[in-house]
Amino acid sequence: MTTRVIVVSGSLRSASFTTALCRAVIAESSRGFGASGDVEFVLRDYVRALPIYDGDLDTDTPPSVVADMRHELTECHAVLIGTPEYNYNIPGGLKNFIDWASRPFAKHSLIGRRMGVFGCAPGDRGGKASVEYLRNMIPLFGATLIGPELLFPKINTLIAADGTVDASVMGPLSALARELAA
Ligand SMILES: Cc1cc2nc3c(=O)[nH]c(=O)nc-3n(C[C@H](O)[C@H](O)[C@H](O)COP(=O)(O)O)c2cc1C
Repeated sequence: MTTRVIVVSGSLRSASFTTALCRAVIAESSRGFGASGDVEFVLRDYVRALPIYDGDLDTDTPPSVVADMRHELTECHAVLIGTPEYNYNIPGGLKNFIDWASRPFAKHSLIGRRMGVFGCAPGDRGGKASVEYLRNMIPLFGATLIGPELLFPKINTLIAADGTVDASVMGPLSALARELAA
C-alpha cells in the first residue's frame, strides 16, 4: 500500500521559493525515498482552496473542500509544511488551513499526525519567526513534531532558474523528508 506524505506550501504565488522547495522534495521522493520506495509525497493546495474559517460553516456537514481535506489528512502518513514569513509570523492562509484542520477540538485530523516544518526567505533569518511559531503550535494541537528547525535564508540565491536547489538546502530538506517518510 502506498504511504502518502502531504506537502503544503504557505505561499500562493506562482514564483514562490517555498513552493519551489516543496516541488524539489516531491521530485526527489519520486526517485525513491522510503525503504521500499512506496512513499508518495503529494503537494496539496489547501491554503488556496479553503474558505476563511467560519464556525457557522463548521457543522457536521462542512464545505466539501474541508471534508475532503480532513479525510486526506486522516489517511496520510505525515505532513510537511513549507512556510514563508509574513510580518514575523506564518501567512494568514496557512494559519487558516491549520484552523480548519485542527477542528473539531480533540477529534480532528491532525491528532497524532507526524508533522515537519521548514522555512525559507530571501532575508537573513530564513523565516525563523514563522517556523518557531509553527513548531510551538504543532504539539499544542496534538500532532507530533518531527525533525530539527530547518531555516533557509537567502533562498533567492540558492534556487537556479531551472528549479535546481543548492545542495546546502536539499541535503537537510531531504533528511527531514526521509524522516517523515520513515
Ligand atoms: C506581507 C509580507 C510580509 C513579509 N514579512 C516578512 C518577514 O517578516 N520576514 C521575512 O524574512 N520576509 C518577509 N517578507 C518577504 C518574504 O520572505 C518573501 O516575499 C518571500 O519570497 C515569500 O515567500 P515565497 O517566495 O515562498 O512566496 C514578507 C513578504 C510579504 C508579502
